[in-house]
Amino acid sequence: MEKLEQLREEGLAKIEACTSTKELQDIRVLYLGKKGPVQEVMKMMKDLSQEERPVFGQQVNEIKQTFEKAIEEKKVTLEASEINEKLKNEKIDITLSGLKPNLGNLHPLTVIQQELEDLFIGLGYEVAEGPEVELDLYNFERANIPKDHPARDMQDTFYIDDETLLRTHTTAVQMRVLEENAPQLPIKVVCPGKVYRRDDDDATHSHQFSQLEGLVVGENIRLSDLKGTLELVARRMFGESREIRIRPSYFQFTEPSVEVDVSCHICNGKGCPTCKGTGWIEILGAGMVHPNVLSMAGYDPLTCSGFAFGIGMERVALLKYGIDDIRHLYTNDIRFLKTFNRFE
Ligand code: PHE
Repeated sequence: MEKLEQLREEGLAKIEACTSTKELQDIRVLYLGKKGPVQEVMKMMKDLSQEERPVFGQQVNEIKQTFEKAIEEKKVTLEASEINEKLKNEKIDITLSGLKPNLGNLHPLTVIQQELEDLFIGLGYEVAEGPEVELDLYNFERANIPKDHPARDMQDTFYIDDETLLRTHTTAVQMRVLEENAPQLPIKVVCPGKVYRRDDDDATHSHQFSQLEGLVVGENIRLSDLKGTLELVARRMFGESREIRIRPSYFQFTEPSVEVDVSCHICNGKGCPTCKGTGWIEILGAGMVHPNVLSMAGYDPLTCSGFAFGIGMERVALLKYGIDDIRHLYTNDIRFLKTFNRFE
């Protein structure tokens, strides 16, 4: 009995002293398995009397049950502390500030183009595109500028051959849209794109730049419709308090032709260096589509009319963002471009 008591105490002490589930598992194998101290004690049975044996056997069983229970309990606490330990070691400090991914940002010209497109799509326009390598037919002839007409000198053109050129204005797309749709009404499109002219590059000129052409054709389209539309453009691009002013001008493909000024967004019309003291800044050319243009494309100028305008998008970008040299828009200096990052 003494031996049994010793066995129980020793076993329980070993279980209690375990520091890991693995160690505990070894103890279980030893104490409840076939070759441990419990089996050892069992060998004593044969030396006992008939009456003593059952009592002894019962005691041994009890001890085994005690061990099982103790091991189970120990297992629960060891598992819990092992999980806690693991969690502690794998903890991530989410309060530490991370590395910012470099998202990049849109080019200022792209932003201007998207803002203009959004405005016109909201007004029910569609966006149309055309080729940059264009036929003389669409760039000039359909725009009411016949061959050898002196007005062609106004736009120094990059010719590829006699009939092919780099388009000098997005008005070429206007002519394509007219031809494709004639005689259907109405037409409401904007045509953004690159255009080319043989200019010497300087702070305000570039041999390649971009325009957004607008064209509306329908019944009873009037100059006042053009004015109202351009007022929206001026306000969206330069602020809600902007006014516009219309001056007579001349383009072969519009009649009447106008030039549109917007009240200066820097000085609010008082006069400053940006508006050269006049309070007004010229932003685009426009007019009522010339009857010749309509009829050449297949429309009857007696039953429909239209307006058109061409916005220089660089000009809008320079004015809106206060950029002093158009070349900044093309040289792609990352330090310049980053100043337009709206995510930083
Ligand atoms: N195509 C003209 C230009 O490039 C702008 C314009 C477009 C004028 C449409 C009137 C109508 O200067």
